[in-house]
Amino acid sequence: MKTQAEQQLIWVQAVLYEDLAFNTGKTIRYQGEEVALFKLKSGKLQALQNRCPHKEGVLAEGIVCDDHVFCPMHDRKIHLPSGLVQAPDTGCVRTYVTKVDDGTVYIGFPTTKEMAS
Ligand code: FES
Repeated sequence: MKTQAEQQLIWVQAVLYEDLAFNTGKTIRYQGEEVALFKLKSGKLQALQNRCPHKEGVLAEGIVCDDHVFCPMHDRKIHLPSGLVQAPDTGCVRTYVTKVDDGTVYIGFPTTKEMAS
């Protein structure tokens, strides 16, 4: 049985899990949204809004170190699980849930109503 949170998501097929390189971002686009998808060295997936809150650097092109990505433009450090920009800088980016089903990675996009809030 699905939880209420799962029922409010649209699961979008993104890529084959085995096609993702470790610690290298991949840009996934869905209905005008851009997501940076990362497969960490642990094998865990992290997905977040692909644009840095500072000046829209492309986070999928950033350098990953443990569970952070460094923006390729001005090196702000963003925590992958939470999307929070680390001090001394501030800001945050949206994060997305992911799942792997039969070797395929899916990204959960909130419904339109939820995304507006
Ligand atoms: S655009 Fe990301 S740190 Fe400036």
